[in-house]
Amino acid sequence: MGVELKNNIKAYWWEAMTRLRENIVGIDAAIFMHPRTWEASGHVGAFNDPLIDNKDSKKRYRADVLLEDHIAKIEEKIEKEVEKARKRFGESFDEAQYRSTSPRVVELQAERDRINERMVNALTNNDLAELRQVIIDAEIVDPVSGTRNWTDVRQFNLMFDTKMGSVAEGAGTVYLRPETAQGIFVNFLNVQKTGRMKIPFGIAQIGKAFRNEIVARQFIFRMREFEQMEMQFFVRPGEEMKWYEYWKEFRMRWHRALGFGDEMYRFHNHEKLAHYANAAADVEFRFPFGFKEVEGIHSRTDFDLTQHQTFSGRKMQYFDPETGENYVPYVVETSIGVDRMVLQVLSAAYTEEALEGGESRVVMRIPAPLAPVKAAVLPLVKKDGLPEIARGIIDALKFDHNVQYDEKDSNGKRYRRQDAIGTPFCITVDHQSAEDGTVTIRRRDTMSQERVAIADLPAIIGREAGLRALLEKLS
Ligand code: GAP
Repeated sequence: MGVELKNNIKAYWWEAMTRLRENIVGIDAAIFMHPRTWEASGHVGAFNDPLIDNKDSKKRYRADVLLEDHIAKIEEKIEKEVEKARKRFGESFDEAQYRSTSPRVVELQAERDRINERMVNALTNNDLAELRQVIIDAEIVDPVSGTRNWTDVRQFNLMFDTKMGSVAEGAGTVYLRPETAQGIFVNFLNVQKTGRMKIPFGIAQIGKAFRNEIVARQFIFRMREFEQMEMQFFVRPGEEMKWYEYWKEFRMRWHRALGFGDEMYRFHNHEKLAHYANAAADVEFRFPFGFKEVEGIHSRTDFDLTQHQTFSGRKMQYFDPETGENYVPYVVETSIGVDRMVLQVLSAAYTEEALEGGESRVVMRIPAPLAPVKAAVLPLVKKDGLPEIARGIIDALKFDHNVQYDEKDSNGKRYRRQDAIGTPFCITVDHQSAEDGTVTIRRRDTMSQERVAIADLPAIIGREAGLRALLEKLS
């Protein structure tokens, strides 16, 4: 089920980014690249996490994550105060006024801003002693030991390395790519020339990335081996902010089209920018453990192409036929984790529902175009020719959709099994089907049932569970 969901998420992204657009093409670059690639990109020197250990629990944490979690807790406290006041004042509640005048809220907001500002400055200046001091001053305790017995903060490079060559002697260190983006940058001119692309244009890629994350937790939120869907959009220097805003808006639309509710998403604009960016924002989703990043949109300037040009000695310039100029293009990037998207869909879709008669069901309200199985075909009994009719329906649907056959247990149990994997349609074949060529189709979310002609099934399922329904919302 997981790989089907992943493949559907990837298809949604791929079609939205490439098929719907004439000026974006795909690529599948190598995982191992020349090690100098990672010196040029800055990853060898600067792709680090600041780590801190608790001396009592011996647990290791990312110093910035400890602080971000602390800030999130302060924000929760602020929201609780606001909600309490909203209930107390009712209709006449003026939220903006309350936030700016309530002594408790003003104090919490000031604390949050103070910590945030110090953290951002410490990270920007690479001042690890100050970063530790912010943790001490904020009185952050280790969630495991409950103590404040912290070590110094140290930098730790996140790239995995291995040796290339058959013998250790003379074998060179190579890195597993920590992002797919660099494979796009080093191939930029190949793609531009062979694809006859004109600026502005994009290159999209889906592929594995590897990071030696010290704290890999929250199920599949942070992994050491994960998949990214990245797109680099090459633009004229000076036009990058226009395109940055464009891609922020489009990527948010892509997320919201899934229908989980607009309030489940927000932007988080970065104050501390990565070494390559002049503007950056995350799309955050409200996971059960709080708002967290699912996607980054970055204005990467001409940093990467210029670096590769310098390190390789090869020109990375584009001749613009409209202006008659040669230049290194600027780049706006959209970068989203497939696995994190899977976690987003699972956490948004999971619902426990009370049913009539004291029963309950677990239902995954996965948007139909992403659902692993589109329809289950269920013969009411295992005889009287009903299984053969059911198999016939599957044979007609299987070329377009992933469909399942199930004849075990009662129909009620079969429905529960399909609800739990998010199958949008259950098709029941009964004795009437043999007589008039109709079946009942039951919808997962409403549990409503209607009788339809077998001949109409491909059109119904195609319309409601095909990717087209989703993609049309984007055009
Ligand atoms: N090329 C830019 C880049 O890699 P990033 O913000 O480091 O930017 C982009 O990563 C996306 O990749 C994140 O928004 C997240 O969805 C995903 N991602 C990053 N690290 C991850 C990890 N350790 N496990 C799972 N997904 C990860």
